[in-house]
Amino acid sequence: MIIARTLEKLRHAVTPRRDVGLVPTMGALHAGHLALVAAARAAGTPVVASIFVNPTQFLPGEDFVSYPRDEAGDLAMLEAAGCDIVWLPDVATMYPEGDATRVHVAGPSARWEGASRPGHFEGVATVVTKLFAQVRPARAYFGEKDWQQVQVVRRLATDLALGVEIVPVPTVREADGLALSSRNRYLTAEDRARAAALPATLQDVEARLARGEPVAASLATGAAALRAAGLSPDYLAVVAAETLEPLDEIEEPARLLCAARLGKVRLLDNLKV
Ligand code: PAJ
Repeated sequence: MIIARTLEKLRHAVTPRRDVGLVPTMGALHAGHLALVAAARAAGTPVVASIFVNPTQFLPGEDFVSYPRDEAGDLAMLEAAGCDIVWLPDVATMYPEGDATRVHVAGPSARWEGASRPGHFEGVATVVTKLFAQVRPARAYFGEKDWQQVQVVRRLATDLALGVEIVPVPTVREADGLALSSRNRYLTAEDRARAAALPATLQDVEARLARGEPVAASLATGAAALRAAGLSPDYLAVVAAETLEPLDEIEEPARLLCAARLGKVRLLDNLKV
């Protein structure tokens, strides 16, 4: 007889043996997504990648309908990257008739992207919970490119005791430093050239902070540099790495976080500081 006094032991006892890594995506895959697949493969266990453009994380007026979709291209990339299983649910599977449940994570979702896009993280938390329930992965891989998303998913997995280890993967960048993103394809050639100012500015602010310049002054310099380059910052902030609370001084693990608009595209980036 197995006596389980910890959740871990309970899971081993009552669920069939499985040990897979999950890479959740919305498709239109690029090298950033493939870095998550590579990280999952490195664990030596089967890799499941999901592709689902999740309607509940898009706000009215956002690009849900026009979000890039390329199933054949995605499948070829996943196959070449050594992915073992691809999970391609349809909307009715993810949101069954009569669907009435949402997962709301407060705390790390409150500010920044959560404030700019109200309801976005509720959609993310809901779909990620469903994917975890369906696939039951031991580990799930998320890109640091979306730093706040990683912290929201971590909070969710911890609070609901989902038994999934959340593994963050460093941001994959173009040669000029721009973080890869499915939405970069919407940049005009001119804006694409300007976009490099975002990572360059974050690096400059990071260097100022490392030299001991005050947070507020460093951020003001950074915001001015972004505007001078033609970007409109939604926010540029130094935040506590896990809670996402803004910091005036760096006394704990911190992250420099930015969202900036360039034409119709919203660019996100962040750096460790
Ligand atoms: P999507 O934007 O397709 O991103 C899927 C995963 O790829 C996320 O974890 C994201 O952080 C990661 N990613 C994107 N660009 C990256 C880059 N340049 N370097 C490293 N990782 C990168 O994020 C989502 O989808 C959705 O919100 C999802 C979690 C799938 C829920 O619907």
